Amino acid sequence: MSINIPRGTQDILPGEVELWQLIEKTARELCEKYQYQEIRTPIFEYTELFSRGVGDTTDIVQKEMYTFEDRGGRSLTLRPEGTASTVRAFVEKKMFGLPGQPVKLYYLGQMFRYERPQAGRFRQFVQFGVEALGSSDPAIDAEVISLAMNLYKSMGLSKLKLIINSLGDKESRIAHREALVSHFKPRIGEFCSDCQNRLEKNPLRILDCKQDREHELMKTAPAIIEYLNGESKAYFDKVQTYLTQLGIEFEVDPNLVRGLDYYNHTAFEIMSNAEGFGAITTLCGGGRYNGLVEEIGGPETPGIGFALSIERFIAALQAEGIQLDVNTGIDCYLAALGDNAKDYTVGLLQELRLAGLSAERDYINRKIKAQFKAADRLKAKFVAVLGDDELKNNKISVKNMQTGEQEEVELDSFVQYLREAVL
Ligand code: HAM
Repeated sequence: MSINIPRGTQDILPGEVELWQLIEKTARELCEKYQYQEIRTPIFEYTELFSRGVGDTTDIVQKEMYTFEDRGGRSLTLRPEGTASTVRAFVEKKMFGLPGQPVKLYYLGQMFRYERPQAGRFRQFVQFGVEALGSSDPAIDAEVISLAMNLYKSMGLSKLKLIINSLGDKESRIAHREALVSHFKPRIGEFCSDCQNRLEKNPLRILDCKQDREHELMKTAPAIIEYLNGESKAYFDKVQTYLTQLGIEFEVDPNLVRGLDYYNHTAFEIMSNAEGFGAITTLCGGGRYNGLVEEIGGPETPGIGFALSIERFIAALQAEGIQLDVNTGIDCYLAALGDNAKDYTVGLLQELRLAGLSAERDYINRKIKAQFKAADRLKAKFVAVLGDDELKNNKISVKNMQTGEQEEVELDSFVQYLREAVL
């Protein structure tokens, strides 16, 4: 019996992986421009990090974590997201004491959630995310949002919708919480058991319930935005002013609450509104999480960030019909005719590669015609043909596959010739 890939995971094969690499490269380059530095944290953490960080009453912690005991009896969890780990490292490595504040970090890596797999929803997926720790300037909220938007736009996406909301500061959230409890309490019996539990623990989570989404009380629930105090409102106004200044269009959505507990003030999501995009349209989510650093044992430090998955990024590119030129082809294919020539190309191939060129030769004893076919498949810019006679005369014939021009070149100067032609 053959063994299949686990549900909700993917193999990314050659031919597909180039697009992943391009997105990852573009993200890294953008982070360099915005001055975010990479952080790599472990794939698993102590379970408590997520139950405390992401929040005990969230779907992620209650239903979606891959949690296991190690041989020492410790409870570990495969990371469902990157913010908690980043903040843990920030606290543990005392990055709050670094001279360069705010600390601006990014990560690219696998995350794990035990969700019901469907288009755009996987159990293992790759998130690119950024976190800016140590600034409560609304300008950095706008910077973080603009980084995400510019990444999408730089890959050609245009059918994007940015929605933002403010979850306010602690005082605003307490006022809103009371209003939510009074709103739902009289009829909480009509809601699912999760929501009933959430009523006292964390009524905001009720608004995020997938099961009771259509209940009439959901539509009339008090919106946080009406409960913002003066300071929170001023902060949110300033974020909007900066977004406008950056030419980023947005919509304020008072119902946006996000699925993780650590948020306050700015919350945002970027959706694809391309026709034919699946049911799950959120490409990217993020927000401010002042208070999380303290929750994880560090000093009072504000923070904001976002994460997006490469899987949904690619789905959005496909929905917009964007074809990126990811497979640009190799520089040179070395075709050989005759045993001596074949032997000689072993060394010549290495010379080309050490000179900075991408090059390939035949390894399965193809006839010359089939070698040309192989060169075509690799989209070779040049095909160099070496026969035994040419080898004796210190010559090699080089064909430019774009122009069709062919030239005989001295074998000794071939590598230099090709370098000049290609680089
Ligand atoms: P999140 O909204 O849970 O936020 O996830 C962010 C993004 O990860 C989603 O918008 C989506 O692109 C992707 N994603 C989530 N689950 C899946 C899945 N099952 N399959 C494919 N893609 C998925 C967070 O994770 C926060 N840590 C974001 C953040 C960073 N907030 C502040 N800093």
